[in-house]
Amino acid sequence: MNQFDLIRVIPKAELHVHIEGTFEPELMFKIAQRNQIEIPYKSVDEIKQAYNFHNLQSFLDIYYAGANVLIQEQDFYDLAWAYFEKCAEDNVVHSEIFFDPQTHTDRGVAFDTVILGLKRACDDALEKLGISSHLIMCFLRHLSEDSAFETLKQALPHKEHIIGVGLDSSEVGHPPAKFERVFAQAKAEGFLTVAHAGEEGPPEYIWEALDLLQVNRIDHGVRSEEDAQLMQRLINEKMPLTVCPLSNLKLCVVEDMSQHNIRRLLQKGVHVTVNSDDPSYFGGYMNDNFIAITQALNLTNDEIKTLAINSFEASFISTEQKKLYIDQVNNLFQ
Ligand code: ADE
Ligand code: ZN
Repeated sequence: MNQFDLIRVIPKAELHVHIEGTFEPELMFKIAQRNQIEIPYKSVDEIKQAYNFHNLQSFLDIYYAGANVLIQEQDFYDLAWAYFEKCAEDNVVHSEIFFDPQTHTDRGVAFDTVILGLKRACDDALEKLGISSHLIMCFLRHLSEDSAFETLKQALPHKEHIIGVGLDSSEVGHPPAKFERVFAQAKAEGFLTVAHAGEEGPPEYIWEALDLLQVNRIDHGVRSEEDAQLMQRLINEKMPLTVCPLSNLKLCVVEDMSQHNIRRLLQKGVHVTVNSDDPSYFGGYMNDNFIAITQALNLTNDEIKTLAINSFEASFISTEQKKLYIDQVNNLFQ
């Protein structure tokens, strides 16, 4: 089997995808019409032309604007369902999905509306597509600590449907330290923790995510390579990095895919995984990310296998479930 056939058939978990970042222009138009909301684009093509980013912030401005058309529970259901259909195409059998409640609650949409729509799609994905999932609630780091505490409070009645909390949005200038107390409370409430760190921000932010937020995984973390001591710690602790290659390319974190460090990180022994981040905005879902790095970096079948196994090992599913999925991966190589 060549690498590209393997990418198609190998089971994988996705651990870093923002549900608002899976919003395809066609669905955005449909929901905008349904909710009678004006969007500043005349066509799907015009939307796609706006997807020309030079850094994280230039993307976030457009991403938050797109999310404005999401109002009803059904909108959140449709958004998540469309993503699960992409998972089925890519043989993503488990996904841990970020959502940004403040993007919606700040516009007057109730927390319950968001979570109920997403949860219903997760239930249907399991029943109809056999895809398991978890939801991870992210705090927007450009907003205040108070706002994060308020969001945590709103999440408590839905605790059974939210496995963890995360930290996203504009990284530079908003270090993990700003949310140390919120994360401590979230942990005390039983949530697992992850945080975006080292995407555009320096290695110091990764240290803070580890030491102050006590995260279970680092989202992105590609700048860890600049700090040898940090690299050693990540390797020693088998700390997963959820790397998003097409995102890094589109947001100019790397100039060219041939310069991406994911293969080097893997070879040095860091527990890296492949993910799509905001696939509708960055030009591709899970398999497109695998294909892009395989073409640019010449990944071997063995490396693709390790990346798939890493995705299950780094996930928040039970040990038994991990074994079932990893056995499926190994069976492909019998
Ligand atoms: N929100 C959605 N995508 C993001 C990313 N790549 N970094 C930070 N915040 C985000
Ligand atoms: Zn992200």
